Amino acid sequence: MAFRLAVLASGTGSNLQVLIDRLHGRVAGIEVAVVISNVPGALALERAERADIPTAVFPLEDYPDREARDLAMAEAIDLARADLVVLAGYMQLLTPGFLRRFPYRVINLHPALLPSFPGDDAIKEAVDYGVKVSGVTVHFVDEGVDTGPVIRQEALPVHDGDDVVSLATKIHALEHQVLPRVIELFAKERVVPPAPGFRRVKVDDHEPSDIDW
Ligand code: GAR
Repeated sequence: MAFRLAVLASGTGSNLQVLIDRLHGRVAGIEVAVVISNVPGALALERAERADIPTAVFPLEDYPDREARDLAMAEAIDLARADLVVLAGYMQLLTPGFLRRFPYRVINLHPALLPSFPGDDAIKEAVDYGVKVSGVTVHFVDEGVDTGPVIRQEALPVHDGDDVVSLATKIHALEHQVLPRVIELFAKERVVPPAPGFRRVKVDDHEPSDIDW
């Protein structure tokens, strides 16, 4: 059975590329059904087009407000019959109305170990703070800024010689491993959202992955 993704991306789309190369049509029935951006001309859109994946662009300036923009975006996601919405470098907050339409079906990739360094400049903030360990978080999206329940985290050391560029390189390489695996686990129904009033997500990760690296 197909497991359809709507991937939202604002920029380069290196994570999207990994999903296309490693998951799309290859693992657990996963298909990238649509790629959506708020930024016309984003490289992520080009990557999708190259793979014959439908794209859609919803720039905020084209709508009266964020609610209207997110409503149009939600309609496109429904039309694509997406099972999971994946924010892979999507740099705008989603409105509560959008999130209510997809309960526990919107996940975000974040380049730090939340709750440390939420927001859009996490890697620089981690370097400036001087942490010795950072990493990657995949979490459910709620109405806060990077505050939703954590699905998976992986850590890496920050060395004395690291700067923003070198740490970003290592974090992206780790993201490219972590995000596909989490999506594979969703497709195999191995991720159980928290019970009402709780935050803990259950993830059954004891079977080997089918991803061919
Ligand atoms: C990734 O590092 C992702 O964690 C980050 O944007 C980058 C997108 O890279 N997301 C955030 O900072 C969200 N707050 P990509 O466009 O090459 O996949």
